[in-house]
Amino acid sequence: MNGLKRQWRPSAVGLAAVLILSSAAVAQNLPLTERIQQCGGCHGEDGNSQIEKVPSLAGQPEFFTINQLVLMREGVRRIEAMMPFVNDLKDEDILALAKHFASLPPKRSEEAVDPALVNRGAEIAEARRCASCHLPSLAGQEQMPRLAKQRIDYMIYALKSYLTDSRTGADTAMTAAILGASDADIAALAHYAASR
Ligand code: HEC
Ligand code: HEC
Repeated sequence: MNGLKRQWRPSAVGLAAVLILSSAAVAQNLPLTERIQQCGGCHGEDGNSQIEKVPSLAGQPEFFTINQLVLMREGVRRIEAMMPFVNDLKDEDILALAKHFASLPPKRSEEAVDPALVNRGAEIAEARRCASCHLPSLAGQEQMPRLAKQRIDYMIYALKSYLTDSRTGADTAMTAAILGASDADIAALAHYAASR
């Protein structure tokens, strides 16, 4: 096997990921259950995060998680806090982790959802056609993540990082989709998605 590569939409970043084959660092051969426990320390035991700015993984499309873990393992999407947990992942681990998290039911976080912002967010999402990629249910598909029931603080953080080009390894399709949004628009979109 060649090593998993980021697939679809060949951007500059995609190409970089394709060129670097899995670096098979000092593989630890941890059993899957232990891996899942490690991830759960930050992302929540049931895949629903209770930590500020840490995304929930429950119900994410398998393909999205595979792509992101490959990008992280290769250091293309750089998340310092996660490096020790991803740099020795084997392809089989990535496939199994993605399958595991995709199978868990997503749950809304404890953050308060503001109904006025939800309505405003629905209008902005319609105008910006978020559903054309993330689906009308916002459940995500293929390499497009689930937004429904995601943490509000994480979504605001993520949207701002696309806007300011500070998400490493970001897909430019998403940068284009959020171009010109104000802080108020971003908050509304995050509340809307969390409410779905
Ligand atoms: C020390 C805390 C920590 C641990 C442990 C951890 N993560 Fe993360 N993870 C994060 C943070 C923080 C982010 C978001 C960072 C950002 O976007 O800047 C993240 C992002 C992700 C993302 C991207 C999700 C998205 O919606 O964009 C995936 C997938 C992921 N982690 C999977 C895992 C898996 C699988 C494990 C276990 C092998 C793991 N993480 C272990 C903190 C952690
Ligand atoms: C052309 C397709 C497309 C459209 C339209 C689009 N997105 Fe995305 N979105 C993506 C892709 C692809 C990703 C994964 C990007 C990556 O790998 O960096 C993404 C990622 C995201 C993320 C990061 C989530 C996470 O878990 O890390 C958020 C939040 C998001 N989109 C919100 C939105 C909102 C809100 C809209 C409408 C304003 C929107 N998207 C419109 C394709 C799209």
